[in-house]
Amino acid sequence: MAKQVLVSPSMLSADFARLGDEVERVCAAGCDFVHIDVMDGHFVPNLTMGPDIVKSIANHATKPLDVHLMVENVPFFVDLFMDIKPAFLSVHIEAVTHLHRLIWHIKDNGIKAGVVLNPHTSEQLLEYILPDIDLVLLMSVNPGFGGQSFIPQSLEKLKRLKIMRDRLNPACLLEIDGGVSDKNIAALKNAGIDMVVAGSFIFSSNDYAKAIASLR
Ligand code: DX5
Ligand code: ZN
Repeated sequence: MAKQVLVSPSMLSADFARLGDEVERVCAAGCDFVHIDVMDGHFVPNLTMGPDIVKSIANHATKPLDVHLMVENVPFFVDLFMDIKPAFLSVHIEAVTHLHRLIWHIKDNGIKAGVVLNPHTSEQLLEYILPDIDLVLLMSVNPGFGGQSFIPQSLEKLKRLKIMRDRLNPACLLEIDGGVSDKNIAALKNAGIDMVVAGSFIFSSNDYAKAIASLR
């Protein structure tokens, strides 16, 4: 039997007018983390929520936060999220010049640090940072919007990344984000995924618990 994966529902697909309710419901439905997509309108062509809204969500969440920063000025945003103390704070490799320094700044503040790769970014770029990080987040859609289709090459990339992760840092979690559903979860598990983000699949269902259980 394939192992169980951790499920991190993306609040991007929740009803933004009822965020408190939505996060309470999805936590009660048995998720492991709550995925928060922060966008600045520059790194990606969309805007979502800043630290004050995320703080309000955190007050209603009974599960730890998994924050995904899709921003250009990464060090500035990292500092805005420090006192919220998410479980994971993940930054895009494409947006950071001094990645090693920033990762250790996050970790020195007691937060687990993740690195995110866009669909076109090679996993090979992680060779010298993997030993230092807690999570790799693979984008399986172009970041910016929920409800897009899974990019098929992401599966091969995940398999290669898993080999590299097992060699360099077996404790580092592998997470995937974009277009995850009950249609591709079996293939993702077979490829070695530890944790999945799912937005539209969970929030468009009328039974969050059932949707989450179907991904496990
Ligand atoms: C996209 C975000 C994702 C997105 C996933 O930029 O990073 O977290 O909300 O949504 P679905 O699961 O609908 O692809
Ligand atoms: Zn995300």
